[in-house]
Amino acid sequence: MKCPTATICSLLALLSMAWTAKQDPSILIIGAGVAGLSTARRLMEAGYSNVKILEAEPRIGGRINSVFFGDAFVDLGARWCHGQNGNVVYQMVEGLDLLGHTEIPFKMYHSSRTVIDEEFAMGLMEAMDGVYSVDGDYPDRYISIGDFCEDRFNSTIHEKYGKDEKKLQIAKEAMYYFEMEVNSNEGSSTWFESTAQSDYLECEGDLVQHWKGKGYKTFLDVLMKKYPEPKNQLPFEDKILLSKEVSEITWNESRPRNSIAAHCSDGSTYTADHLVFTPSLGVLKERMHSMFVPKLPEKKRMAIQNMGYGLVMKVILHYPEIWWKNDCNGFNLIWSDEDRKRAINEFPTGPNLNGRSWVTYMHYSLAVENNPKVLVAWFTGKLVPEIELLSNDTLARGITYVHEKFMGHIYNVTLPDKLIHSDWQSNPHFRGTYSYQTPAAKKGKKATSAQEDLADPIRTAQGRLILQFAGEGTHPHHYSNVHGAVETGFREAERIISYYGKTTNI
Ligand SMILES: Cc1cc2nc3c(=O)[nH]c(=O)nc-3n(C[C@H](O)[C@H](O)[C@H](O)COP(=O)(O)OP(=O)(O)OC[C@H]3O[C@@H](n4cnc5c(N)ncnc54)[C@H](O)[C@@H]3O)c2cc1C
Ligand SMILES: *[C@@H]1O[C@H](CO)[C@@H](O)[C@H](O)[C@H]1NC(C)=O
Ligand SMILES: *[C@@H]1O[C@H](CO)[C@@H](O)[C@H](O)[C@H]1NC(C)=O
Ligand SMILES: *[C@@H]1O[C@H](CO)[C@@H](O)[C@H](O)[C@H]1NC(C)=O
Ligand SMILES: *[C@@H]1O[C@H](CO)[C@@H](O)[C@H](O)[C@H]1NC(C)=O
Repeated sequence: MKCPTATICSLLALLSMAWTAKQDPSILIIGAGVAGLSTARRLMEAGYSNVKILEAEPRIGGRINSVFFGDAFVDLGARWCHGQNGNVVYQMVEGLDLLGHTEIPFKMYHSSRTVIDEEFAMGLMEAMDGVYSVDGDYPDRYISIGDFCEDRFNSTIHEKYGKDEKKLQIAKEAMYYFEMEVNSNEGSSTWFESTAQSDYLECEGDLVQHWKGKGYKTFLDVLMKKYPEPKNQLPFEDKILLSKEVSEITWNESRPRNSIAAHCSDGSTYTADHLVFTPSLGVLKERMHSMFVPKLPEKKRMAIQNMGYGLVMKVILHYPEIWWKNDCNGFNLIWSDEDRKRAINEFPTGPNLNGRSWVTYMHYSLAVENNPKVLVAWFTGKLVPEIELLSNDTLARGITYVHEKFMGHIYNVTLPDKLIHSDWQSNPHFRGTYSYQTPAAKKGKKATSAQEDLADPIRTAQGRLILQFAGEGTHPHHYSNVHGAVETGFREAERIISYYGKTTNI
């Protein structure tokens, strides 16, 4: 509609907004992960009740998935609350005594069956830290972590250990350990894929806090206000529809109300005034062309294409007895060059890449809080999609081969009696683990990052808010974290609330 004068036009706009608010605008949220639940919580607290969450999985939580295994809950997805200051998760649970500190193991084992002496191990960690966490001073703004660290680490270890050939060799081999460590933090499959100069900001304070055997799902209860006072819980139950996979989202600008629609794989359709989309960057990468009609703006498609989205796999193992004697909280594994090659002959079952068996992409196993007979083995790299498809038996034997190879001289290593593992890549509702910034996403960027481009909402030609994006991958600084996902959910709820000029009562 063309307005005769600006005054009438703004009056009409005001009227229509007041009208819409009174009608309680309908809001569809796609995904009941942390971002979707946070959006709904903030909206409900501000008095919006016409909210529906469509979730593809038969459960809520998304990349938070705590499962009872062994003696306590273990996490197939997010496990730790990273940091305290400015961490919204930490702030929401502060004082509830839900978190404990995880001691990250620093003992390093070499595949030649030597335990690396503590001083040397510390020296190696320091060498890597000094290189990795250096601020500024980048030769090229768009350099990858790998390009940046390889050279510097190499010169540092030559300086430190140049006179001791044996140590120098182990230090060189340790670089592969550090690459896998970077990959598990970033979610990248090589360290040449993520940028050395990212916009990621860490929250200060304790960086590794666990949920005392109750799993990260504890936080979902806090978020929905089921905990600590069940009587305060918000009415989530009747708003969440499970096993509702959305396959297409269409919108029609000329409809004044309910102009956006989510079409589900089961044939049902839901319409609303606003839609907040929270599935992962992996889902967007795979489906952006078929999911949205009309298609997303060029800027957003570029952001989705250029951002990185990663691969990490956890295998959680339960043992009949604690063969590692409980005297350590985990093992960092440094493969010798020879053993990295040899593994393919010594353990021929399963996939390999560039002459390296899948088992050499395992770089540590960690103990688990309140779960004495459980270890978690981590895999990173391009083979993860194939490793996810291996049988329990092959996984158990491969990991036992690795433990035996590194620690067989100290412990009587045994096979696990049961195991579970993550399948974030194989699952079409995730297609990977978490996002990172690539050199490509930084390149050519001026004022905004790819994350900000992704977060930018879509409005109609008349300026009506219609399609919004939340989720870990849309946070400019706290991406790849639960606290980042929470903040993006709140951000999109606030966007709707301020659009209607209501105040929150938090
Ligand atoms: C292995 C692993 C370890 C991690 N460790 C940590 C950690 O220790 N600490 C930390 O802070 N963070 C960690 N993270 C990251 C953290 O889990 C995520 O950043 C956060 O949970 C993402 O929440 P989200 O709501 O953005 O996305 P998601 O949790 O992915 O939620 C999106 C939801 O959308 C649903 N969905 C997808 N497609 C559709 C569709 N077509 N229709 C309807 N619904 C759909 C999904 O099923 C999902 O429930 C880890 C993640 C992984 C995978
Ligand atoms: C590592 O550094 C040494 C000493 O500075 C140098 O001789 C060597 O070529 C470097 N190796 C690599 C792979 O860069
Ligand atoms: C959009 O909505 C208008 C008004 O309801 C309708 O006339 C038109 O056919 C719709 N367009 C499409 C492509 O569905
Ligand atoms: C692997 O073991 C787990 C736990 O015992 C079980 O739930 C799962 O079904 C097994 N997977 C396969 C493929 O057998
Ligand atoms: C391993 O098992 C053997 C045979 O049972 C036993 O003699 C040995 O002490 C065990 N070693 C360790 C480190 O437990």
